[in-house]
Amino acid sequence: MMSLPDSNATIYLDHAATSWPKRPEVIQAMVDFCQHMGGNPGRSGHRLSLAASRIVYETREAVAELLGMPDPMRVIFTGNATQAINLALRGWLRPGDRVVTTGSEHNAVMRPLRDLQREGVHVTVIPCQSDGSVDLQQAAAIIAPGTRMVAISHASNVSGARMPITEFAHLAHQAGALLLVDAAQTAGLLPIDVTRQGIDLLAFTGHKSLQGPMGTGGLVIGDGVDPSRLRPLIQGGTGSRSADEIQPELLPDKFESGTPNGVGIAGLGAGVRWVLNQGIQTLREHDRELSRLLVQGLSAIPQVTLYGPSDPNHRVATVSFTVSDRQVSEIGGLLDERFDILCRVGLHCAPAAHRTLGTFPEGTVRFAAGPSIQPLQVRQAVAAVEQIVQS
Ligand SMILES: Cc1ncc(COP(=O)(O)O)c(C=O)c1O
Repeated sequence: MMSLPDSNATIYLDHAATSWPKRPEVIQAMVDFCQHMGGNPGRSGHRLSLAASRIVYETREAVAELLGMPDPMRVIFTGNATQAINLALRGWLRPGDRVVTTGSEHNAVMRPLRDLQREGVHVTVIPCQSDGSVDLQQAAAIIAPGTRMVAISHASNVSGARMPITEFAHLAHQAGALLLVDAAQTAGLLPIDVTRQGIDLLAFTGHKSLQGPMGTGGLVIGDGVDPSRLRPLIQGGTGSRSADEIQPELLPDKFESGTPNGVGIAGLGAGVRWVLNQGIQTLREHDRELSRLLVQGLSAIPQVTLYGPSDPNHRVATVSFTVSDRQVSEIGGLLDERFDILCRVGLHCAPAAHRTLGTFPEGTVRFAAGPSIQPLQVRQAVAAVEQIVQS
């Protein structure tokens, strides 16, 4: 049901970078937007602008439904997860504040945090265990009262390790902090309920498991967060309160200045509706099965060292490995040229995660499966690695 008919024999194992191929309904939604509703959303009163506004609103509603946010106006669209994370960190933290993060984070979190550190924000990193997971007792000791924010990824884009979000929300709230979750790797893949899980700010990207196009993403602002205390990253025209030279406080306008990516948001809406129609539990089950096959298959090859949790319940199907005495770039090149298997090698924009795993600076080969990948293709990829190590 989930496979995309594709005559191409390519095995695309780079879904953690971006999902591919994009689904036909996603592509069609973008074509329809351009052909039939290409007005500027929220700006003019004519029918093309109203049609565009409706599509943007329907996508907001679909994202809100998927992520457990009762008020769609608390879904803020950005260009990607990185912009949403920057909005959350820069919008909330002030010099003198304390923020806690983990040793598994992507540079989308680490680089703005290191910059904020130069401006007087205190950054504390919870060290991760060798498989990328976190010891909650250690985390509890570090998330001390007075912490203003805890910023963690839901799942690592390197080790695939899942973080216990609900437990982190509890620890953050006990300390008086907000919890920011980087769900770039998990929105559309793992069940997320911002309200029930106590997530205060959730950054998502549209082009990975939500199946949308690049240039889409957003920040969900939880019910417990007062948006007047969150500063926008940019200010400008919103199509609302046009007589006023002061940025409106109205949601989502306060955080969405400038013409939105209407075409992309139309595609994102179709992607999110596809996820809703499949059911997140079905998608997660598929991912769990692929995780199991990847871990089982790769760990049976003696020359391969596998990183991340071995239990498929504690990980997503993003699996990093190295091969003894071989460069990761060589393995990636051979997989591409000889086997038509596309994956990513290197540091995956997350040096902190590699320091944790002991794979810095060379990095790893990363197989990242997605809903269009079938168990047979995982077996073929494992067999290809076996052939390469024997050659
Ligand atoms: C864990 C994590 N956070 C953030 C990002 C940034 O996502 P985007 O490039 O869509 O902004 C990525 C992208 O790979 C990621 O894996």
